[in-house]
Amino acid sequence: MFENVIDLEEISQDKLQKVIDLACEIKADPQRYSESCHGKILATLFYEPSTRTQMSFKAAMMRLGGNTLGFDNPMNSSVSKGESLKDTIKMISGYTDIIAIRHPLEGSAKAASLYSDAPVINAGDGGHLHPTQTLTDLVTLYNEVGRLDHLKIGICGDLKYGRTAHSLIKTMSHYEGNEFYLISTPDLKLPSYITNILKGSGCKYTELNSLSEAMPMLDVLYMTRIQRERFASEEEYKKQSGIYVLDTEKLSLGKASLKILHPLPRVDEIAVEVDNDPRAVYFKQAVYGMYARMALIYLMLNEPAPKIHSEPSTGDLVHTCSNPNCITNSEVYLPRSFVNSGDMLTCTYCDSRMLI
Ligand code: CP
Repeated sequence: MFENVIDLEEISQDKLQKVIDLACEIKADPQRYSESCHGKILATLFYEPSTRTQMSFKAAMMRLGGNTLGFDNPMNSSVSKGESLKDTIKMISGYTDIIAIRHPLEGSAKAASLYSDAPVINAGDGGHLHPTQTLTDLVTLYNEVGRLDHLKIGICGDLKYGRTAHSLIKTMSHYEGNEFYLISTPDLKLPSYITNILKGSGCKYTELNSLSEAMPMLDVLYMTRIQRERFASEEEYKKQSGIYVLDTEKLSLGKASLKILHPLPRVDEIAVEVDNDPRAVYFKQAVYGMYARMALIYLMLNEPAPKIHSEPSTGDLVHTCSNPNCITNSEVYLPRSFVNSGDMLTCTYCDSRMLI
């Protein structure tokens, strides 16, 4: 069904719906699928900390009757001796049937997929994308709201570095009638490559800095954490932290039918008192994530897509990606690759754009 899952843009809406439907089916009758991946092994390669994504991937594979191996601290693996991403992936894809990788550098999952003999799932690549969080969000909305279209969706917090926001906006922009309220400080606005996607799809969006102003209009509020680990300094982070806090006073401005999502972990952007409000679905959302990942793993292992690419050759020998957090600037053997659109080059690993 999917060769790899790097960016949900590569997956049709019909296929996304198949994952959502299967996640719902598994949730309703988990026993039916409890041996469906017997004898298969999932590698979880977490170069960056995680609670939900890592554990829900592991729980998903175990609940499908399979096994898992991997690391959650690369310093306990031969990465600490200087082993490249390419060599690590090449080895592990010989031991396992499917790989989930989280890495602090953007474009890392795509890079891994170039050298893997097993399907690769992007479990978060730097500040770029987090497609399985978006699958989690889709399953949550489908169950808790009842539809994925014609929604007024507020996304609040760190829209610059928040990969969960990037993936969600890209995917939800393809569903008819959705409208976004992008709530952030001017310094943490959505990257222009994503606002360009919104413009290209004809999806309405409003950028604003007041959560209270947006609240009455929303069907869905997606709160996000300020991504401390992506800032150049603690001082820069502190300037942005604590600005948006959803508390009961702000929540009182929202519709009775509002649903509040958050990919978690939460720091201080949702007051604990909000947890008891029936509109808060973020803990349920984390559980839907396990079913979404069960459905994805099941489909990737039981309905595999033919492998269409082979190891890449030299790539672009002239240009270098201008994004210092792009994987191509750390793993320098990677073939550089850009899409050329007039006077702009877009890196196919991290989506950064630069003038030629
Ligand atoms: N939502 C999410 O990615 O959480 P973790 O960082 O705990 O995996």
